[in-house]
Amino acid sequence: MSITVAPSRSTPTQDFVAEIAGIDLAQPLKPADRDAIEDAINRYAVVVFRGQKLSDAQQIDFSAQFGPIHSSAQRARHQGIKHRLERTEIADISNLDGEGKVLEANAKRRLDWLANRLWHTDASFRAIPGALSLLYAHVIPDEGGDTEFADMRAAYDALDTAAKNKLDGLVAIHSIWHSRGQLDVDKNKYTAEEQASLPPVPQRLVRTHPGSHRKSLYLAAHASHIEGMPIPDGRLLLMDLMEHAVKPPFVHAHKWREGDLVIWDNRCTMHRARPFDTTKVRDLRRVTTRDVAPTLEQAA
Ligand code: OGA
Ligand code: MN
Repeated sequence: MSITVAPSRSTPTQDFVAEIAGIDLAQPLKPADRDAIEDAINRYAVVVFRGQKLSDAQQIDFSAQFGPIHSSAQRARHQGIKHRLERTEIADISNLDGEGKVLEANAKRRLDWLANRLWHTDASFRAIPGALSLLYAHVIPDEGGDTEFADMRAAYDALDTAAKNKLDGLVAIHSIWHSRGQLDVDKNKYTAEEQASLPPVPQRLVRTHPGSHRKSLYLAAHASHIEGMPIPDGRLLLMDLMEHAVKPPFVHAHKWREGDLVIWDNRCTMHRARPFDTTKVRDLRRVTTRDVAPTLEQAA
């Protein structure tokens, strides 16, 4: 059986989101299939596999075929608690505590996790940011909880030349404390050591994807201001770009089914979780691969 790649959201000029079928990701990955998946990611930026059955170890093994794995930053800012999942390569995207019970309304990890509802790209707040994220669905609530994706290549392409020129060479400052601050998550919930573990980092505002050579905006709720600009000016520029980038033509909503594995490319997309009844269980687990270098050390 060979794999098939079928676009789920494409226009003649814009490829975004494809469904890949004909492959069992729990089995050892054939080099030709690996390459076909990588080509699809380079072209579409978001790819969906349905009906998979993966243990944490299998999800990690599959993910490692696409690059070195970023150890989850969750552990850096949630020290001294019992984590539900043993493997440090996996970020626990569920609303469950260390015992597997639904998190209390004011639990620190829940309030931190709610920031996934803001448009972002994974780990842009780390010097070497995330490349691919591979999110696997164990338990999905009956209603709500979609994940939306925004195509930052299409958003860049849609800017006029004057806007593109204005953005050329700009550097944004990203910090996890900025995204949590937007929700007024109490910083005192984090120890001094947790806060110090994730300092602000600079990232290019426009980057070129190494696989497709397409330019894209690199934005996230983590981005607070622009280097060398008064903070309010930079903040307003980021707010305007955000508003532009998440317009309907650039956005796709993924409706989860248990057994879905979705891969997105953090270098050229943003995503956000949509609301659901958080007293119900939603158990998703994520592996993210590490980019090759800080964006300022990569080609503009
Ligand atoms: C993530 C994330 C969104 C969601 O896993 O990085 O932001 O819908 N998830 O859970
Ligand atoms: Mn995320």
